[in-house]
Amino acid sequence: MTKRRDLPLTALGFRCFRCGRETASAEYVCPSCSGNLEVVYDLQTLKRRLTRSSLAKDPDASVWRWKELLPIARFRGVPLARVGGTPLYRAERLGRDLGLKEVWLKDDGRNPSASFKDRAGAVAVAKALELGERVVTGASTGNAASSMACLAAGLGLKTIIFVPQKAPAAKIAQLLVFGATVIAVKGTYDQAFDLCLKATEEFGWYNRNTGHNPFTREGKKTASFEIAEQLGWTVPDAVFVSVGDGNIISGVWKGFKELRGLGLIDRLPRMVAVQAEGSAAVKKAFESDGVIRPVSGETLADSISVSLPRDGEAAVRALVESGGSAVSVTDAEILDAMKVTARREGVFAEPAGAASVAGLRKAASLGLVRPGEKVLALITGNGLKDVASALKAAGKPFLIEPEAGELRKLVRKESLGGRATCSD
Ligand SMILES: Cc1ncc(COP(=O)(O)O)c(C=O)c1O
Ligand SMILES: [Zn+2]
Repeated sequence: MTKRRDLPLTALGFRCFRCGRETASAEYVCPSCSGNLEVVYDLQTLKRRLTRSSLAKDPDASVWRWKELLPIARFRGVPLARVGGTPLYRAERLGRDLGLKEVWLKDDGRNPSASFKDRAGAVAVAKALELGERVVTGASTGNAASSMACLAAGLGLKTIIFVPQKAPAAKIAQLLVFGATVIAVKGTYDQAFDLCLKATEEFGWYNRNTGHNPFTREGKKTASFEIAEQLGWTVPDAVFVSVGDGNIISGVWKGFKELRGLGLIDRLPRMVAVQAEGSAAVKKAFESDGVIRPVSGETLADSISVSLPRDGEAAVRALVESGGSAVSVTDAEILDAMKVTARREGVFAEPAGAASVAGLRKAASLGLVRPGEKVLALITGNGLKDVASALKAAGKPFLIEPEAGELRKLVRKESLGGRATCSD
């Protein structure tokens, strides 16, 4: 591969997921077949610079800790808010409930715009600044967009965002507060995605669309770097990821592979894709001929409601290469997982964020994970993103007159007595 000017010297170029063509230069997708691209790094050179001890001396806990493994040649600015460095919790109660020895939750709802998408957004914003772009566009079920808007704020970048009309109010509110121009499309995410691509063709706006832009995957892989380092340079046996377009799971898998290429870890996890039943195109492709075909996309977990996954080929590749598997979960199981994750482990996840836990519970019941294994579920979005679904999961408060008599009646009727009450 010959080197490309706007990739760093440590990057060799791009490789196509569909036809395998390697190219030094590309704007978005493969120049031969329009397949999605991944950035390829010179890991042999990087291996000498990035070591466990060099990293131990670096106080930066954000995604920029990994800047040598990111596709920016000349940083001209980065988002103001800190992205990455999210907590990893040992989920002992959940583990006990499932008969598993070691369960971990990585809470990426703790990013600045409250979702995993900030990892991708940070890299996309840095790239847009490097390229001297003025307008960034993107289509999103909500989180990728609110992340772009949040991370572009204060940097002189205009964001023009396409969302499906039905995106949850909190995500729309985030977009508007951060100053994005919001175009709500009377249709699905898939239709918003296609319209956004047309906008880029016609108006030349920089496009951040998942999968189409090869750099979103680069930001997402930083989660794996953090997981391995937080686990003392070990990896889980299985990593559960909620899947819509398939870009997160593909990025996370790429991250683990790069770490192994750098000699920072010596084995790889199995990747497990968790999809909502009505939105399981990746699972269907993985379990049949590998070809992604559209599905209805129906699910209350709006962030993983996708008819035609835009990075599905890369997601299937991650499952195949890692010896992983795919599970699907019902909306009821997702709502239940929201409750369990909050009540047993103190982590409040939006439906798509808790779907990984729903998938872990399903996988444990199907025997897809063994009791002695170390497993991790990625929590990809915060529960405050979608309060309506949280209320669906958790029910309503009691409503009473502001009188002691009323309160006593309620305490008796509902058996609320005792000093400590605890449900679930
Ligand atoms: C909270 C959350 N979880 C999971 C996903 C799925 O990621 P991907 O579409 O890359 O599969 C998304 C994507 O929007 C998301 O916002
Ligand atoms: Zn190609």
